[in-house]
Amino acid sequence: MAEENYFSNSFEYKNGILFCENVALEEVKTWLKNRGIKRVTPAFIYSKSQVETNVLLYKNALRHLERKTTLNYALKANMNPGLVRIMKTLGCSLTLVSGFELELALKLGFTPERIVLNGNGKETWEIELAVNNDCLLNIDSLFNVKQTIGVCRRLHRKARVLLRINPDIDPMVHQYNCTGKNGSKFGVQEKYFDDVIREIKSEPLIQLVGIHCHLGSTITSIAIFRESADVMLQIYRKLKHEGFEHMEYINLGGGLGIDYTKHVAVTTDPKILVKERPIDIPTPADLVKVVDEVFGDENISLILEPGRSLIGNAGILLTSVLGVKHGEPKSYIVVDGSMTEVIRPALYSAYHHIDLAVPSQADDKHKMLYDVVGPVCESGDFLGKDRYMSAPHEGCLMAVFDVGAYCACMGSNYNMRARPAEVLISGDKLELIRRPETLDDILAPYDI
Ligand SMILES: Cc1ncc(COP(=O)(O)O)c(C=O)c1O
Repeated sequence: MAEENYFSNSFEYKNGILFCENVALEEVKTWLKNRGIKRVTPAFIYSKSQVETNVLLYKNALRHLERKTTLNYALKANMNPGLVRIMKTLGCSLTLVSGFELELALKLGFTPERIVLNGNGKETWEIELAVNNDCLLNIDSLFNVKQTIGVCRRLHRKARVLLRINPDIDPMVHQYNCTGKNGSKFGVQEKYFDDVIREIKSEPLIQLVGIHCHLGSTITSIAIFRESADVMLQIYRKLKHEGFEHMEYINLGGGLGIDYTKHVAVTTDPKILVKERPIDIPTPADLVKVVDEVFGDENISLILEPGRSLIGNAGILLTSVLGVKHGEPKSYIVVDGSMTEVIRPALYSAYHHIDLAVPSQADDKHKMLYDVVGPVCESGDFLGKDRYMSAPHEGCLMAVFDVGAYCACMGSNYNMRARPAEVLISGDKLELIRRPETLDDILAPYDI
């Protein structure tokens, strides 16, 4: 393991009160109320210093390499412009998956030549936007090359493209997070490789500048990244040999996991279900080192495009207890946050640590097992199952940890729930980076 302290302490308890940087999270409620906001929880709270730490861990590792490198933030992980601006200030470029994401990137002033537009199903206008702005375009299939050729001919413009490979590597993650194995809809499989290459070769307006793969997300084994770097290097050499003189990049995607259990106290208490923490999750430095070793002296420019490992641990969901409901065989802590803010438990059976953000004032605080659930009319609406914790009082603040990635951006208005406030904290400063939605926001597209 590399020596950096991968997880800084941007969210820390002091005397039983949870702080984000210098701000006690209970103060956020008052701060939001003072801004005339009625629904102050649930709310997403982000730590700026944690985002900075995460980016610097990659940047510092990449800085030592004797090759050109680009760190792209995968904006799909969290598109809040207040956070994306921080990525820009820190020198990140972007990997994008839709035309609107590209429109946002352009509005925020990102340099288009460093942006990658990815996607297994791009609409013509999205390709046009990327080509007109000279972005790098990922080619995902034969039909996608033909589409891109059509756009280039119509616009009389060249496209610089990366070919997305499906290297058939198992990333050992939840099936919905697996994107680089046969059976996944992404990338070109070996069997179809020559057809796609022939098509690319036939069109002078398509300039193949590199190859791309993204194996999946929440990957916790460095050996998997070594294997993909190795496969990609072989393909890179083959294409160079075939005369693709502009080949320069290998983009190894994102995928590095984070430790979702880091807040879990290590214990021998038999009632606590998460007893062991996976302490060996690789760091960005581990990842960079292994890739650089594989590429060796080869003159390859490296692109990495992490999402989760740049933003996941920088956010929590602050939520209030609506009540505690006892039952057999389950008892429930019912909170005002739900699957409409944090869908990962329902979608991927994902674990997010949950704890009280202030000490409990309940008459009977004794610890027992609870499911922590939201108010959504759906049995899949849970944030955590079988959590051993003190009974909270009504109104007690709780925190769902590590929701910076793939939570707010995957939120929905299901049950006509309004998307909540998002607050960025830096030191002792608070900034509202998304106001909570109103009923009018939700009804705006409809004719009532
Ligand atoms: C093409 C591509 N690149 C990068 C990422 C970011 O992955 P992660 O958030 O696991 O780092 C994703 C997300 O799945 C992706 O689809």
